[in-house]
Amino acid sequence: MVFTDRTFVMIKPDGVQRGLVGDIVARFEHRGLKIAAMKMLLVSEDLAKKHYEEHAAKPFFPNLVSFIRSGPVVAMVVEGKDVVPMVRSMVGATNPKNSNPGTIRGDFAVDMGRNVIHASDSPESAKREISLYFNTSEIATYKRIDEQWLY
Ligand code: TYD
Ligand code: MG
Repeated sequence: MVFTDRTFVMIKPDGVQRGLVGDIVARFEHRGLKIAAMKMLLVSEDLAKKHYEEHAAKPFFPNLVSFIRSGPVVAMVVEGKDVVPMVRSMVGATNPKNSNPGTIRGDFAVDMGRNVIHASDSPESAKREISLYFNTSEIATYKRIDEQWLY
């Protein structure tokens, strides 16, 4: 069986600056999730505002938009069984103060404004966020040898 649930993951500028890209990608691979797309980019103001549009009225919105644009990010499409909640649980709580050790934020982050990684919070958000960052031609469809017994 091939699991095609998808989520959108982005290593934020702090994660890139701190050299955590390889470690974070390895966590997803080692868990058995599949990287279907990945690229480094600088986020435009327009894209940042669209990405975080649900927070447009919040006081932290301007800082969030400028932070996400402060350096390159690594955007990914990750696939697997129940991948949206799976990746959210690997990411940990929004405020790293409350993120359990063993989660990405719980292991690497201290401050809410510098929490290393973004991951979609629902399949609907995933669909929207993937389409903001990737064309369909940038997303690979491929069979992995271990799909049958991985889970
Ligand atoms: P949110 O979507 O609530 O969290 P998550 O990233 O876990 O889905 O918020 C988006 C980002 O906004 C969050 O990762 C960090 C930032 N943020 C703040 O800076 N202050 C806040 O009070 C909140 C709720 C979020
Ligand atoms: Mg969110």
